[in-house]
Amino acid sequence: MTKKVTITDLAKRANVSVTTVSQILNGKEQRFSQKTVAKIKALQLEMGYVPDFNAQSLISRSGKTIGVIVPSINNPFFAEFNHGIDSYSASKGYTPLIFGSNNSPQVESRYLVEAIRRAADGMIIASAVSDVNETDKLLRQNGLPYLLIDRNPPVKGDLVDVQNKQGGQIVADYLHENGHHKIILVAPKDLTLNMELRITGFKEKMKELGVDFSDDQIVHTDLSMAGGYQITEKVLAAQPTAVFALNDELAVGLNRGFAEHDVRVPEDVSLIGYDNIDLAAYTIPSLTTMNQPAFEMGETAARLIIDRIENSDSDLQRVTLPIRLVKRNSVKKIN
Ligand code: RIB
Repeated sequence: MTKKVTITDLAKRANVSVTTVSQILNGKEQRFSQKTVAKIKALQLEMGYVPDFNAQSLISRSGKTIGVIVPSINNPFFAEFNHGIDSYSASKGYTPLIFGSNNSPQVESRYLVEAIRRAADGMIIASAVSDVNETDKLLRQNGLPYLLIDRNPPVKGDLVDVQNKQGGQIVADYLHENGHHKIILVAPKDLTLNMELRITGFKEKMKELGVDFSDDQIVHTDLSMAGGYQITEKVLAAQPTAVFALNDELAVGLNRGFAEHDVRVPEDVSLIGYDNIDLAAYTIPSLTTMNQPAFEMGETAARLIIDRIENSDSDLQRVTLPIRLVKRNSVKKIN
């Protein structure tokens, strides 16, 4: 295998010093003649020289890196969220270092340390942080600004909020409007604050509308398509007219489970999800769901954390992003 091209190789070919090459490739080209700059850049291309990350971050005292921890990188919602982070970070010359904690506090702690070790300039954490105080202490000790989002409680600091409670209320309203009073809510076994808020909003609105809804009408399963699929029989046993799944993956699994039991959506049972992942538009029938602006959540989180990295004393920013009910074909009006 051939050796990696080094800055020394490039300097030798150009017949200049290593310092000259380093300065030209690190934004100080105005110190040199146009001819030298052009020569170095042409040679860089020709030789395929990629500057060493560690050396560059030592010079700039920044890795221009955002550490990101999400609960799962397979989850389509977080794929979109990461896309938003990536897109904004790239526009500002930052690179996200994305970790999936697999919902494990141990994995999360390990990745937190890894992000610090790899010179992250700031952190965005969407997985439910097991110990907010410990995380705060570790990141503060290392001088790293951070932003907790989605599955985390709001803490003092920059914030991106997404109206979870209101989401639950809107779903309740819509199902009521369509005549549904016998509803099963499908939730994950481990409820994080954002999911709890959806349930609270749903329950409060049902109460306000005078519809009975008790905790017996909530069934718990793994937060995945498989989890939704596996809970099908339990849901059907309750004979609901409508099912509210706390995320679209659950709804997709249920939709398949219903079909295998010859239960038609929405003729026999209505189904509503949450998130509006891409797949929701392609299930049969297409899924009515609450749109969460996952891409904008990522973009905004990246914007806030980069602003904080570059200006640590600026005022706190708190952004609330809107949610929106996407009406497709999985809810039927009944009498
Ligand atoms: O599966 C993704 C879900 O978990 C979303 O609803 C999101 O808000 C997260 O917490």
